[in-house]
Amino acid sequence: MSSPGRAVPRRKPPHVLANAPFRRLWTAMSVCSLGDWLNIIALTALAGNLTRDAGFQTQSLAIGGVFIAKMLPAILLGPLAGAVADRFDRRLTMFLADLLRFALVLSIPVIGSYQWIVIATFLVECVNLFWVPAKDATVPNLVPKDRLEEANQLNLLVTYGTAPVAAVLFAVLSVAMDFVGSAAPSFSGQPTDIALVVNALAYLVSAVLIFTLRDIPKGHARQGAPSVLRQIVEGWRFVGANQVVRGLVIGMLGAFAAGGAVVGVAKAYVEAQQGGDAAYGTVFGAVFVGMAFGMFFGLRLLSGLSRRRLFGLAIVSAGLVLAAIALIHNLVIVVMLTVLLGACAGIAWIIGYTTIGLEVEDGLRGRTFAFLQSLARVVLLLVVAFAASLAGLFGSHPFTIGAMSYTFDGSHLVLLIGSVVAVVVGALALKQMDDRRGIPISVDLIAALRGVRFEPEQDEQPRGMFVAFEGGEGSGKTTQSRLLAIWLRDQGFDVVQTREPGSTKVGMRLRAILLDSTHQGLSARSETLLYAADRAEHVEKVIRPALYRGAMVVCDRYVDSSLAYQGAGRDLDKDEVAKVNAWATGGLVPDLTVLIDVPPSVGLRRHASPADRIESEPMDFHERVRREFRALAAANPDRYLVVDGTLPQGEVTRLIQDRVREILPDPVPTDAEANTGTIPAIKD
Ligand code: TYD
Repeated sequence: MSSPGRAVPRRKPPHVLANAPFRRLWTAMSVCSLGDWLNIIALTALAGNLTRDAGFQTQSLAIGGVFIAKMLPAILLGPLAGAVADRFDRRLTMFLADLLRFALVLSIPVIGSYQWIVIATFLVECVNLFWVPAKDATVPNLVPKDRLEEANQLNLLVTYGTAPVAAVLFAVLSVAMDFVGSAAPSFSGQPTDIALVVNALAYLVSAVLIFTLRDIPKGHARQGAPSVLRQIVEGWRFVGANQVVRGLVIGMLGAFAAGGAVVGVAKAYVEAQQGGDAAYGTVFGAVFVGMAFGMFFGLRLLSGLSRRRLFGLAIVSAGLVLAAIALIHNLVIVVMLTVLLGACAGIAWIIGYTTIGLEVEDGLRGRTFAFLQSLARVVLLLVVAFAASLAGLFGSHPFTIGAMSYTFDGSHLVLLIGSVVAVVVGALALKQMDDRRGIPISVDLIAALRGVRFEPEQDEQPRGMFVAFEGGEGSGKTTQSRLLAIWLRDQGFDVVQTREPGSTKVGMRLRAILLDSTHQGLSARSETLLYAADRAEHVEKVIRPALYRGAMVVCDRYVDSSLAYQGAGRDLDKDEVAKVNAWATGGLVPDLTVLIDVPPSVGLRRHASPADRIESEPMDFHERVRREFRALAAANPDRYLVVDGTLPQGEVTRLIQDRVREILPDPVPTDAEANTGTIPAIKD
């Protein structure tokens, strides 16, 4: 079945931003992040301005009100938002969310009262809740698995990196408005208003970008899907039941709790060290510098370590650093330690995001991200509030040891508690997620620092290319798949040409049962399971091994045949047929499916040999099959090529080659195209 030839050459992969759909999503996200930060700066300033005359306390409360309005929706609506992201068209969800955000933000300067700021902020945040999980769940669909970490680095970079840009932009706007105001006093533009208009426009830009991003797969809404409530519960149950995801969630929440402790007492801590606002700003900045450092350099430095281990280790290390910060009271050392703390957090955050993208199947991903998003906010809110009160209650306790005087106050206590939480949670995550049981961590760490690469065992990436041919009886797909295999071999590729059912030893026996026209009584379900059994064997013994060694696999019929023949033809629940097959194939999906479409009346006439069990089905069976094939292709145009099978054979061949050429890892010159060998007669 296979021919020895050259494997698909491995070239240095292009940067993840060379991937056009991801680039577009990323641009939308950057614009939104910039808008979000402008929003925070402008709104807190505006809330302060609007309540300026009411005294410092009211002003602080007003600013606090804006923050609470930002946090509350996640707690109330987060789970629903995740279910929406998993159930409906994610592109549409994001697009509508962008339009709503645009209108809401624009309404703030128009209405201009403090109450409306709080209400609108609350509403915008509600909408954000739907946007974010839809986006998070989409990223893993747009970039290949091995580039996901890189994509997440870029995502986090713009999520936080746009904050200083927004601050500068706001400052520039303020200065510009002052200038305009003094030059033309009749013009009374407030910088906060202008910033909010810019913020609204950012959402509009994002709406346009997302709308034109056709590569986002459609949602999973189908007839017979469980209710939203059941989906929410299913999402929670999944997080609780999956060991790796549980470990990740515990770890990320623990890290958040520790982070919340730092935020809650940072000001008091710095003040106790006789540091002013500048020192506070420096410590704060140090966290972000550290995060960026960890995300980019830390991960590269430790690229040899198992990601799952590194996740837990980073959180434990964050805890230890935090303990040092609690005990060492020297501002310079603390700033350095804070960079380290940020680095640990950055590493953990990227790994957490990436691992969820890799481990959680598409249909559950929105809910998983939403779950994390909501819980993270609850934890943050509780911890910040609790940390500040605890620190205040504990007070300050100076004591002297010999000639040394040392003060231990509430902020130190909170940091110490935070550090213990981080260490415990990190250790738990490490235990839950460890993929190198029995191998001491120190051995891995030393190897990683020496530059030895860790290769995960199960997550090996298929490297070849998988093309499936589908179509009804007599469509000519068998001929065309052979011609494609010959053409690819001519280009020097290692090609495995195969078909379903019956390409393995067991498969041959299954095929005999399936197609034997004396077995007319075979039930639709057992027929489905037998095809799926043949496929499971085929994927494991033939297709996956070929893909791993870098071969091109050309397969005559695959999962879609079961969806069309058993799902539509035999009238079984398509979702169930899809699930059985996803399980049988371990989720392996072709890079391209070529559908050769012919009306059944034409196809069945092409047959010379006596009809087998399926061919002898009535015409409306074959009509349903054809409709289903076409519907599958229409739902995912990027992964399908539909060719009119009534076209001359040479024309069909050329259309297929043109499309395959686009997705080949190495460019193939067009002039090689005509050389397809002798054309056998149609056989299907
Ligand atoms: P085969 O002789 O290989 O026919 P073709 O040349 O049309 O591919 O027989 C395969 C038959 O099995 C075909 O009639 C379609 C049917 N079939 C299913 O019903 N479900 C499936 O999952 C597969 C792979 C095939």
